Amino acid sequence: MRAKKIAVIGAGVSGLGAIKSCLEEGLEPVCFEKNNDIGGLWNYEETPKNRIPGIYKSLTSNTSKEMTAFSDFPMPDHYPNYLHHSKMMEYIRMYASHFGLINYIQFQTKVCRVKKRPDFSSSGQWEVVVEMDGKQKTCIFDGIMICSGHYNQKHFPLQDFSGIKKFRGKYLHTWEYKHPDNFVGKRVVVIGIGNSGADVAGEISRVAEQIFLSTRRGAWIWNRVWDNGNPMDATLFTRYNRTVQKFCPTFLINRWTENKLNARFNHANYGLQAKHRIFSHQTVINDDLPNHIISGRVLIKPNVKEFTETSAIFEDGTEEKIDAVVFATGYTFSLPFLEDEDILDNQHSMFKCVFPPHLEKPTLAFIGLLQPAGSIIPTSELQSRWAVRVFAGLQKLPSESDMLAEINRRKKEVEKQCVKSPGSVRRVQFIYYMDEIASEIGVKPNLFSLLIWDTKLAMEMLYGPCTPYQYRLQGPGKWTGARTAILTQRNRILKPLRTRVLKDSGFSSSLFLFKSICAIILLFLAMLVITSMVCH
Ligand SMILES: Cc1cc2nc3c(=O)[nH]c(=O)nc-3n(C[C@H](O)[C@H](O)[C@H](O)COP(=O)(O)OP(=O)(O)OC[C@H]3O[C@@H](n4cnc5c(N)ncnc54)[C@H](O)[C@@H]3O)c2cc1C
Ligand SMILES: *[C@@H]1O[C@H](CO)[C@@H](O)[C@H](O)[C@H]1NC(C)=O
Ligand SMILES: *[C@@H]1O[C@H](CO)[C@@H](O)[C@H](O)[C@H]1NC(C)=O
Repeated sequence: MRAKKIAVIGAGVSGLGAIKSCLEEGLEPVCFEKNNDIGGLWNYEETPKNRIPGIYKSLTSNTSKEMTAFSDFPMPDHYPNYLHHSKMMEYIRMYASHFGLINYIQFQTKVCRVKKRPDFSSSGQWEVVVEMDGKQKTCIFDGIMICSGHYNQKHFPLQDFSGIKKFRGKYLHTWEYKHPDNFVGKRVVVIGIGNSGADVAGEISRVAEQIFLSTRRGAWIWNRVWDNGNPMDATLFTRYNRTVQKFCPTFLINRWTENKLNARFNHANYGLQAKHRIFSHQTVINDDLPNHIISGRVLIKPNVKEFTETSAIFEDGTEEKIDAVVFATGYTFSLPFLEDEDILDNQHSMFKCVFPPHLEKPTLAFIGLLQPAGSIIPTSELQSRWAVRVFAGLQKLPSESDMLAEINRRKKEVEKQCVKSPGSVRRVQFIYYMDEIASEIGVKPNLFSLLIWDTKLAMEMLYGPCTPYQYRLQGPGKWTGARTAILTQRNRILKPLRTRVLKDSGFSSSLFLFKSICAIILLFLAMLVITSMVCH
């Protein structure tokens, strides 16, 4: 049989994972990338040309390296835990060259249109129109993986800011922002407190005369450096925590986390108190902001009501003279090449964020179109592993009505828990979502049997960071290095910090013993519950 030909749109981290997954299942990928290089967002360019989103010179990842790695390619042990974009790019290049992915990419080739073929209901095939060197070409594919990015369009709502056209100073979107040099000695308003807004405000504040950071609804601020100096995500995203959270009412978890963040600095006193509970909206990861606020370089302000020629008037009536405005209003996405197809409704409802439910044949998948409260790379990689198995006919999707029911169930859940915002249906909880997709593929680790057969590994998987290697222990795509990768992950976290070596503090065996006993009791209780259920 002829290998199925799959079009992969975009060669960012999602596209690279998609190419690799196609190769794993014996499919034939052709990746189209409109730029001349891989890496998408992480490929920094000094002068913004066409790459959206644009990143700034100082951008450092907000997810730590062990949580961010591809599942069968851990980052080198000497890499820092949070990576500057140049280091991230270095890792992405290593991944692409290690698995020989570059040969499958056609650079400077833009996908203009993706259309069902006339015989789609029987063949499931697509027609893809691409443009290279100004010339258009049509190709036929058996499957499509859309990896064009979740942030490929600027959100720049100038119409919401009256008077901005009169303002005589400079204003720009963070897309154009690269470094603080143009803001020396200036008075600047930064609009919006997402990850970028907080970063940019802090960075400019070191050279500017004054920064005003304007926020409509406040924000909860996490720090990368967590208790004992460990990476935040690697500390909190554990299976143990996830189990505790499952049995804990949401309000308690919200309160626990909010108290924890308020213990670092009181969000109300710092003018940041959010109108929402912590887990109902996007949060911000920033280590420096409270330092800039307490030293007065950044002043938190409410929404801007109006701009005049030389000032900003805030909703509390205060007016500040300013020289420049930075709009950190974020990004959205668009799928212009799908415009005349009715594949998606206007809310972009998809089955588990991957498959549009209305197609006669499941031959199109969205990869990386989601907002995990965690790293995107392993999440989109897992989506690809699932999608290629469906394309290859090794797995089936539920019926259209079952998929719609599942989509509606998720929508209701999100509506109950989250602040209403366009992206909220694509918000997913990291471990929960990874496990959900892994179950579809049959690669979700079986912790109970591991507790019996490989206690050491199971313990690390329960109490240690829930790293992507856990999804390579069994099933399709199994990687023999996965066990070692999990057992050595803490060494890779500590290695880059230990640049002045002290006497080793040693491994606490009594703690290990204590934790083993807890796990065995847990297992015993679970077995009791199961036997009592079976008996009645
Ligand atoms: C400022 C910022 C910081 C972030 N920090 C982190 C972080 O620390 N950790 C993390 O996990 N995530 C982070 N993210 C999320 C980030 O989106 C992901 O890490 C990741 O880059 C997503 O990769 P992607 O391949 O899905 O999309 P992208 O990186 O956007 O790549 C999409 C690719 O598709 C190409 N393309 C688009 N349309 C077409 C077309 N029509 N034809 C051909 N090619 C096309 C583009 O040129 C691009 O190369 C951050 C996002 C932003 C904006
Ligand atoms: C998660 O676990 C870590 C250590 O294992 C602990 O410090 C932290 O408080 C836990 N967090 C939650 C939300 O349970
Ligand atoms: C990291 O920053 C990006 C860009 O602002 C954001 O979309 C993402 O949600 C952040 N990640 C986490 C885990 O908060």
